[in-house]
Order: sequence, then structure tokens, then C-alpha cells
Amino acid sequence: MKFLNKNRPLKILFVAPEAAPFVKIGGLGEVLKSLPSALREMDHDVRVMIPRYAVIPEDKFPMEMIMEGLEVPNGPDNKAIVCNVKIFRDGMKDKEPVHYFLENQEYFEQRGSVYGYDDDAARWALLARGTLEFVRQNHEWHPDIIVAADWQGGLIPNYLKTEYANDLVLSKVASVFSIHNIQFQGMFDPHHINELEYDDGQSSIPNIGDPRLLKTNFMKRGIRYADVVNTVSPTYAQEITTPEYGVLLDALLKERRSRLFGILNGIDYHSNDPEHNPYIEHKYSLKNIQRRSLNKKELQRKFNLEEDETIPIFAIVSRLSEQKGLELLVDTIEPLLNNYKFQLIVLGGGDSRYLALFSDLEKKYDQVATHLSFDAALPHMIYAGADIILIPSRFEPCGLTQMEAMRYGAVPLVRKTGGLADSVEAYCPLNDTGTGLVFEKYDKFAFFGAFVQAIETFKYKERWAGIQKRGMAANFSWQNSANEYIELFKKAIAFNNEPKD
Ligand code: GLC
Repeated sequence: MKFLNKNRPLKILFVAPEAAPFVKIGGLGEVLKSLPSALREMDHDVRVMIPRYAVIPEDKFPMEMIMEGLEVPNGPDNKAIVCNVKIFRDGMKDKEPVHYFLENQEYFEQRGSVYGYDDDAARWALLARGTLEFVRQNHEWHPDIIVAADWQGGLIPNYLKTEYANDLVLSKVASVFSIHNIQFQGMFDPHHINELEYDDGQSSIPNIGDPRLLKTNFMKRGIRYADVVNTVSPTYAQEITTPEYGVLLDALLKERRSRLFGILNGIDYHSNDPEHNPYIEHKYSLKNIQRRSLNKKELQRKFNLEEDETIPIFAIVSRLSEQKGLELLVDTIEPLLNNYKFQLIVLGGGDSRYLALFSDLEKKYDQVATHLSFDAALPHMIYAGADIILIPSRFEPCGLTQMEAMRYGAVPLVRKTGGLADSVEAYCPLNDTGTGLVFEKYDKFAFFGAFVQAIETFKYKERWAGIQKRGMAANFSWQNSANEYIELFKKAIAFNNEPKD
């Protein structure tokens, strides 16, 4: 058994379909920026591989070719797929992760979007296999650990433990599979898969381009083969071992329970700082939190709402999907609007069902304002001016919004699930403790109750300021979690070093 020098910096390679600031669609892209940066600051050698999409501007991120004509085996007709690998090093910053880009015209560069193509299975298989071939053929740098994320990364642990099990370089690389959302497992709906097409997760991986890849359960394979599996909060790690949250993979996760861990995401404390954020007009901190009311007025003006600081502003800053618990608003939001005085701001794109719901509400009620597409600046303005951020999720692996909101002194109203349960402490009127409003059951009456509790509590200014201040003082920086990741990586390395039978 080899022992790992405890203090040796680790060589870590993250592989994902998105990573800010190059390309960010959701929470995954954000985490793929802030976690590698936090580990890099701890002096580990951290690198990130994403595809080279056309939307990544090379003038802003000048890249260098480091491997030309990389042949990735088992493409269509059993031929190799030829890729390049480019590298970007931020010359301005010493302690920044290095970024690699897998370049291929057909599968990545010629596409306008990151997700949503009929051949996505082939695209993510290519990212997985291309990365591994790059590592194998690159003589300058070999990682100790590869961290693959979500279903798109699921084949990496699989290839490592099968195709490359005896490879001189790759057999020494341990794998971590990170689940950010178990609902998406591949190019099919796990609930509607015909038994004959069901992927047992063990047969050999179809060639890239083979239609059988469309029925391959990448998520299941990631869980089955990785040295360790982690998800983005301790509560979600426990929840996914139950039928209610496991989306048919609960039995497998239970089986692998000794390899399953939950580490709460952090948020980037530099970009989410009300004292310095360039998007907010009136900067403030815990010491002069009353200045938020100036931002509240700005926000009301911006969204054409009545300018009155005594009216509570509720806001939704989210991908508008079923996961986010918006179903709970369908029957409740109009009775609430008809009986209580508050304003509602909705920011985000998503499912047409919810886009219609909110644009109809905006037409019908002066107190409702929306911006139904993604925007980079508005979330900061909303967190700096709104009173309550609604996050009634049906399930939530981690959720970053509640932590960002608290950092700005906006009070989260959440359902007690996943990372929301791990990051928001329920306000208790008896003891005057807690950082947000929390309800438990996924039920419209429970949601309605919490909504009214928020309106009532908001009337008690001192109490409310106490909730805000406790939230602002809470620490959701990456520091603690990054240390936990290092411990996790060491476990993965130890598992990979165990003698194979
Ligand atoms: C996914 C999850 C979200 C999590 C994010 C980053 O988007 O739905 O809960 O915060 O990944 O891990």
C-alpha cells in the first residue's frame, strides 16, 4: 500500500460541460469556477477541462494549442475522432486554475448552445474519452484525481475502470463523481424507459455515435464505477438513497453508501459582496445595513413598482422549472396577492408553463413585475433590494441562491430539503433565532403558511433586521468545503490504490 504524503499538493483535473467565466448556464458552471479557484488558493495544482465552444471569445481568453490531432478511439464506423487541446493560463493571476479546452469542429465548435442536441450523448462521451486520451498521451502532466460532474461526466469513471484499467498512466488516476442533479441521467427520461432498453450499467460502452448511447445511463455508470461519489449537500446525499429522491438509482446508491459523501457548495465571496459589487448602486455591509432601503427604492423604480419601503418585496431568481417548487405558487399566489400587500419580482427563463403563469400575473397585478430571461446584473440588484427570496424547491441538491441572498441581507423562504435544509436555519419567534423562513412538506398550504409568516414577521423591524444580520454573518465561503474536498480526494486515491482482485 502506498502512502500519500499528507501535505503534498494534489494534482486535480475537473471535467465538465460548463465552467464560468468561459461558459455558464447554471449552478454547475458557477461551482466549476469557484471550487477549483478555492483549491488553487490552497496551493493544489488544479486544472479544468471543458469543450471549446464557439461562444468562448478567444480575444478575451487567448489560448495556446498544446495537442494537435489527438485521436479519440471508437467514433462512428469505429474510426477515431480527431480533436485538439488548447490551454488558457490567466497570465495576470498567479493562483488561478489552468484551463484546457477540447476542440472539435463537428461536436462542439459548430454548435450555438451548450446543451440540447440530439447527439448530446455522443458529445459528452467524446468529452470523457477525449479528456482521458489527452491525459494518457500528455507527458507533461498527469492528475492524481479526475473529478467528473453530472451525467455528462458519468462515462469517465466507467472508462477508467474498464477500457483503461490496465493503462500505465490512467490506472493510477483516481476518480470522483459529483452529482449536482440526479434527475438527469442521460438522453432519456428514467421514468419512461422500456425494460428491454434498460441499461444495466455494466455492459461495454457503445461507440461514440452508436444510437445505443442514447439509452446509456451515464449517471448510473458514474455512480457505479467512481472511486468515490459525492453530491453537493449532506442532506441531498442522504435523500437520494430513498425512492422519493433517488430517481430509480436509490438502490445502487445504498449499495455504494460507504463511497457516498455530501459536501455543501460554497459561494464566491468576492463577487457576492454588497460592499464592493459593481452592480449595486448603494454599497453597504453588516455595519450599515439600513442603506439597503436605498437599493430597495432603486429596485422598485427599475421594475416600475410603487416606491414604498414598507411594502415587502418577494423575489424569485431562478431557472423556472418544476424542480424549483413553482407548482406550489399556481393555486396560492393569486389568493395571496388578493389578501396581502406585497410586491413580487420574478427573474429567470425556463419552462413555458411558468413563463405564462408569471407574465399573466404581471398583466393582471400592478404589484407583480418580471424579467423572464437570464441576466447577469439583475440578481445582485434584487438581492441588494428585495426583502424575501422565494425558494420553495421540490428538491434541491444544494442551491446557491439562498446563500447569495443571505450574503446581501435578503431573507430566504425555503422548503426544508437538500442544501436548503443545510444552509438556512428556520426563524424561531420564541427564541429570536434563525436565518430564514422554512416549511417542510411539499404542500401548497405549508407554502402559504410560510409566505404569510414572512409578511407578518416583516412588520417587526428589529426582529427582521436580526434575521438579516444573522444571514449576512453566516459563513458560506468555500474554505471549509474545499478542505472537505481534499479529504474526499485522499479517500478516492486510497480506494484506487487498493489491490484489485
Ligand atoms: C444544480 C442543482 C443545484 C446546485 C447546482 C450546483 O444546478 O440543481 O441545487 O446548487 O447544481 O451544485
